[in-house]
Amino acid sequence: MGFLDDAQDFLDKGVSAAKGAVSNVAVEQFGYMKAFARLCADGAQAGWHEGNGGNLSYRLTEEEVANTRSYFYTTPSSWVTMDRAFTNLAGEYFAITSAGCSMKNVALDQKRFVGIIELDSSGGAWRVVWGFKDGGQPTSELLSHLECHSVRKRVTGGVSRVVYHAHPTSVIALSKLTGPDAGRLSNELWRAMTECVLFFPEGVGAVPTSVPGSDELASQTTQAMEEFAAVVWVNHGLLSTGAGFDEVFGLESVIVKAADIICATAALVGAHTQASFALTGADIRAIAEQYHLPLRADFVEE
Ligand code: 13P
Ligand code: ZN
Repeated sequence: MGFLDDAQDFLDKGVSAAKGAVSNVAVEQFGYMKAFARLCADGAQAGWHEGNGGNLSYRLTEEEVANTRSYFYTTPSSWVTMDRAFTNLAGEYFAITSAGCSMKNVALDQKRFVGIIELDSSGGAWRVVWGFKDGGQPTSELLSHLECHSVRKRVTGGVSRVVYHAHPTSVIALSKLTGPDAGRLSNELWRAMTECVLFFPEGVGAVPTSVPGSDELASQTTQAMEEFAAVVWVNHGLLSTGAGFDEVFGLESVIVKAADIICATAALVGAHTQASFALTGADIRAIAEQYHLPLRADFVEE
C-alpha cells in the first residue's frame, strides 16, 4: 500500500486509526486479540493448518467491546443479511479470521487477517467494524461459527466464547473409520488414553461429509453442538468450543493426541485391529466414577 492508498484508507475508515496512534495502543495489543493470534500461531505450529485450512472466532465480552469501541471504523461496512437470524447473538461482536488467510500469518498482521464483526439488533445481519483492512471477508465457515456460538452460548449459559476449527491429519484419518457415528468416535478416543474421558465425558460429535462452507454443514454442526463441545467433520477436520482460548486449544490438542495414538497403534498392530491393551469400558467408567464426570454411559463399549 502506498501513501495515497494509506491516506484513502484512513479517510475511508475515519479517525479510529489516529486514536490508536496517539495513545500508542492498538487493538492488536488487547489481551483477547493477543490470545487470538497466539492460538492461530500455535495451531499452525502444530501442523493443523495447511494452506488456508482452519479458522477461529471469539465472542467479545461487554467490557472488551467497550474498551475496543473507540478503535472501530467510524464508517463500518454495509450490513450483510444472512438467511437466518441468531436472535441470542443479536448485538454481539466477534473477532474472526478472514476467508482464505493462512493461520500462520494471523499474528503477523492481525488488522488484515482478523476482523471484528457486529451483529445487528435482530441477529440476522453483520457488518465489519474493525480489521479486514485490505477488503477481507469473514471465513467461509462464518455460518457454522455463528451456529456454534449460538448453540453453545445457550447450552453453557453464556460461558462459551471461542469456536476453533482445524484440519489435524490423524483426526481426519480416524473419521474415515468411524464415519458420522458419535458413539463409535467417542469410544475410539476414550480408549486411546486416560486423559480423554476426563476432558470430554460427554463424548465428541460427528457430522457426515459435507461441502465446506455449506448451509448443510452448518445445520448438522448445530445439532451436534447441542450435545458436544467438540465435533468432528468427517473427511474434513475438527471444531472445538469453550470459554477461553487455552481451554479450546487444550480440548483440540487432547482429541488430536488421542487420534495420533490411534493411528500410531494401528501402525503397530495392523490397521484397525483393536490393540490388546486399549482402555476397556470398565477402565473408562472407573475414571468417570472417580472424578464424578457426566459420562455418556450409552456410548461406552465393553
Ligand atoms: P476459510 O479460509 O474460508 O476460513 O476456509 C478454511 C476452511 O478450513 C474451510 O473449512
Ligand atoms: Zn476446514
